[in-house]
Amino acid sequence: MKKRVLFVCLGNICRSPAAEGVFLHLLEQSQACDRFVVDSAGTGSWHVGKAADARMRAAASRRGIHLASKARQLERADLNRFDHILTMDASNLSQVQALVQEAGGSSVARIEPLLSYRSRFDLSEVPDPYYGGAEGFEHVLDLLEDACSGLLQAIDDETPSAAADQASSGTLWRNRSTRA
Ligand code: 4NP
Repeated sequence: MKKRVLFVCLGNICRSPAAEGVFLHLLEQSQACDRFVVDSAGTGSWHVGKAADARMRAAASRRGIHLASKARQLERADLNRFDHILTMDASNLSQVQALVQEAGGSSVARIEPLLSYRSRFDLSEVPDPYYGGAEGFEHVLDLLEDACSGLLQAIDDETPSAAADQASSGTLWRNRSTRA
């Protein structure tokens, strides 16, 4: 069964579409595209339907990464449509957790900060580059490449039996610290 991964930020025009593109690029490099469904969404609705920010597209393109997604808003169904929801900052995480509460308090998706998978950087949030300069977009891509690599490794390390247990029980993903 394919793993379903959703990246979430505020506007879905800078960080989460870049995370989606970086993760897809890693999948292409490891010939793993057919094992995943990858998407991104924003907690806000201002930019729905828009392509990713031109500055982010240009920065990603210089690394050979094509950002093709169009912005959409996170919706309640996403909580059960994806196995993993990765948020960019503490505000996104709170918004997704609030949506879980509205939906009755549980989700199929395991919801966690993307940077919990980082290894090279000592940061817990992906900063919003929207109002800053070009270097902010490069920094975001550096963070995303680091964390997405760790995320892919972690998902690959999940045992098929653990994933099947989760699917059949309908419970939340176990806390990362308790994962086998
Ligand atoms: P993102 O960045 O959450 O990484 O897509 C933003 C883009 C636009 C706005 C805020 C954040 N905005 O306020 O329009």
